[in-house]
Amino acid sequence: MSQSADGLHGAGHTAEGPAPPAAVEQLHAVRLMVNGAAHTLALEPRHTLLDTLRADLELTGTKKVCDMGDCGACTVLVDGRAMYSCLLLAIECQGREITTIEGLARDGELDPVQRAFVEADAFQCGFCTPGQIMSLRALLNETAAPSEADIMRAVTGNLCRCGAYVNILKAGRRAAELAAAPREAGSPGETLPAGEAR
Ligand code: FES
Ligand code: FES
Repeated sequence: MSQSADGLHGAGHTAEGPAPPAAVEQLHAVRLMVNGAAHTLALEPRHTLLDTLRADLELTGTKKVCDMGDCGACTVLVDGRAMYSCLLLAIECQGREITTIEGLARDGELDPVQRAFVEADAFQCGFCTPGQIMSLRALLNETAAPSEADIMRAVTGNLCRCGAYVNILKAGRRAAELAAAPREAGSPGETLPAGEAR
């Protein structure tokens, strides 16, 4: 860090005095449909969908790791397809149906992919897990009976640093079975604790 002629250190000052604060872009009214609920938010056009979900809507199940399209931790469904929310602007998601990990359970009952992850013990730290689940959910949205190759391909964009892939693939196979099997009468399946929304 250099010292300027007026004795002030570093960025943020000019010879004429303090630099003006970074420009704030104009706010726009952005309408989003997330997990079946409509939201109108005042956002800068540069605001990512990931930051909007986590900071504005407090849906922190979607994880922010690389923030540059490398890891898949931020995967959500957009119109049923898996997408990296860190690479999408919130403003361009208007008119589209966004689903996060919090929106998968129905009536307090876990989605088959979530149940499969529990059954197969398909996580260690769990940080990549929401993204893995969303990618496999997207696969099952497209293909009721995926092959092993389909399952592997579905999670290639989701990095698990602690190496839980063997069980993640097992969970993918199990999820396809659970999604295809009619629920046995009287079987409640895996349920969420009371009051838990994710
Ligand atoms: S946080 Fe989006 S791909 Fe890593
Ligand atoms: S379970 Fe640890 S990074 Fe995936």
